[in-house]
Amino acid sequence: MRPPGDKSISHRALMLGALAVGETRVSGLLEGEDVLRTANAMRLLGATVKRDESGLWRINGVGVGGFGEPADIIDVGNSGTSARLLSGLLATSGFVSFMTGDASLRRRPMRRVIEPLNQFGAQFLTRDGMRLPMAVIGTNSPVPIRYVTPVPSAQVKSAVLLAGLNTMGETTLVEREATRDHSEIMLAHFGATLRHEQSDEGLAITIVGQPDLVARDIEVPGDPSSAAFAVVAACIASEGEVLVKHVGVNPSRTGLYTTLREMGAAISWRNERLVGGEKVADLVVTSGAKLKGVEVPAARAPSMIDEYPILAVAAAHAQGTTIMRGLAELKVKESDRLAAIAAGLSANGVKVEVGADSLTVHGTGGRIEGGGTVQTHLDHRIAMSFLVMGMGARQPVTVDDIEMVDTSFPGFVALMNGLGARIAPAAS
Ligand code: S3P
Repeated sequence: MRPPGDKSISHRALMLGALAVGETRVSGLLEGEDVLRTANAMRLLGATVKRDESGLWRINGVGVGGFGEPADIIDVGNSGTSARLLSGLLATSGFVSFMTGDASLRRRPMRRVIEPLNQFGAQFLTRDGMRLPMAVIGTNSPVPIRYVTPVPSAQVKSAVLLAGLNTMGETTLVEREATRDHSEIMLAHFGATLRHEQSDEGLAITIVGQPDLVARDIEVPGDPSSAAFAVVAACIASEGEVLVKHVGVNPSRTGLYTTLREMGAAISWRNERLVGGEKVADLVVTSGAKLKGVEVPAARAPSMIDEYPILAVAAAHAQGTTIMRGLAELKVKESDRLAAIAAGLSANGVKVEVGADSLTVHGTGGRIEGGGTVQTHLDHRIAMSFLVMGMGARQPVTVDDIEMVDTSFPGFVALMNGLGARIAPAAS
């Protein structure tokens, strides 16, 4: 299989392409709802974004500082990445804009980006609890900041660095725990100057403001977070082999693969190469290995933050107990994923315990019972994870909704069925 394009990288390609001078051509862009929302936001801000018949995306950018006032509300749907990263771009653009999202996103916290972006001089008018919809009053004369982020979040880091793009001087973001570094890699690819320094407070990343970004060609690697569903399906299957081609293996994203190997899974990668500064490889997963429970350290959480739902499915099939720590951030994803995972596993006969920021899964060491219905709470990864769980269950597993799967993985059902799953509408 070839997984769809990386969601994080796709958002960033559209945003930086929209700020570069000249035509940026992007191949392998994820054409999922979330990314299409970012494409539309870039159009509203003045960039030309088009897809040609061959599937290549062509973006004609406006240059750093060249965005214009959007004529309508920017609706980013289910996409937290669009909302947070765009907030950074809008904060240092000297006009007022309005942003909203779907019911899931309107519940999610924006304070984490508003606090640092206020320091640049931007103002935000929000609903109670700093939630969307909100108005962004961008500043014409931003001041550069140095910000030590209290949350391990690539979205917060990226919002600050992107706000720093249109700010004269040097903006520094310090992170205590390393999060995905796609923004830094791509900013450098487009010609921005960045510096990395280890300080007592953590890794300090500095961007030099108001660079001339130059249009680039970008090849988006497959999304390791989407590949994860086929990989875990192969891990819990009794026989067979799955080859996942052209998937991103940036070390800030591969925590799930490390964990599955520790559990005993037979996963290897080959043809490792560098594409636009990003590591890419082909993965081979051989079924039939006995999985065992492991302890997943909190320090690994940022490198597999979106993979806990599907890891929980692997853990449910393993022999013994799996303990996952450092999961506080899971509560503010597309749903409260900690609660959603626990409820979905319990509904299908798997014993779990939820702590303040941990999850313990008691593996069955073989097939799980299944037969339950899982509430997805508008969360694509909950839906996909539990559909995969059905592949290893005695009774079918039902999810209440799959519409939002298209936000990150269009074609998921057809692709998994092609690998041998039997996913079909439930008889009503
Ligand atoms: C993302 C960062 C992560 C991740 C999300 C995509 C990004 O969110 O969960 O799916 O593209 O920067 P946080 O920054 O909230 O951890």
